[in-house]
Amino acid sequence: MSVNKKIKEKTVTTLRLQEMKNAGIKISCLTAYDALTANIFDESGIDLLLVGDSLGNVFQGEETTLPVTLEQTIYHSKAVVKGAKRALVVSDMPFMTYQVSANEAFRNAGRLMKEAGCSAVKLEGGKNVTKAIRKMTEAGIPVMGHLGLTPQSINKFGSYRARGKDPDEAQHIIDDAQRLQDAGAFAVVLEKIPASLGKKITEMLEIPTIGIGAGAHCDGQILVYTDMMGLTVDFNPRFVRQYAELNKVYTESVKQYIEDVQSNDFPNESESY
Ligand code: KIV
Repeated sequence: MSVNKKIKEKTVTTLRLQEMKNAGIKISCLTAYDALTANIFDESGIDLLLVGDSLGNVFQGEETTLPVTLEQTIYHSKAVVKGAKRALVVSDMPFMTYQVSANEAFRNAGRLMKEAGCSAVKLEGGKNVTKAIRKMTEAGIPVMGHLGLTPQSINKFGSYRARGKDPDEAQHIIDDAQRLQDAGAFAVVLEKIPASLGKKITEMLEIPTIGIGAGAHCDGQILVYTDMMGLTVDFNPRFVRQYAELNKVYTESVKQYIEDVQSNDFPNESESY
């Protein structure tokens, strides 16, 4: 067997995600923004790494995801692609890189695939993005949808409240989910919707659903890694499970380092040449 064949077999593809849904195997996903972190998550066995536009909040200190640019996403996606050997790397299309026209969306998605080397793109919305999704998927660009709470629309909705709680809004999300699948999306992220709605959409769709605050019935789950690692301290929504207290670890380590430098304990003889 050639090396290439071996690598191919190990790599998670959109087809593999579909097989996982069909077999009832849950899909685990995390965000990543750099090669080092991507490599740790990849080696740990994560299925999908999303270079989310949460990049704006997490790394750029922005209030929203809106200022993130295509160039910045390409830069971070390139790094994540280098760090990930097995996981499927999906790049988020930033605000205003796909809303103007299907042609512009197509061109920008192409830049992400070609310049960053990601394997798929993600965009937010339903009916309004189906034309763009169709164009991309027909040209071989796999697209992941994103429904429910869509952070790029924060200025339209004015809050990050859960979506789909009232029947009209729930029906709207259901209809959009069907539209995304019909347009050729390979998966859909469902963010901050009732678990019962997540279940209904997951059972309705053939393609996998990836939940974030959408209950246990989704085919997979995704979290922003800085939330699940406890690096973010001022963001504690119900849907985040914190697996570590990295903020505490960082703080204590840096304090100890400062103390060691100030007391002339660091570097010691064995740490010197
Ligand atoms: O930008 C992001 O990190 C996302 C996830 C929350 C799904 O879209």
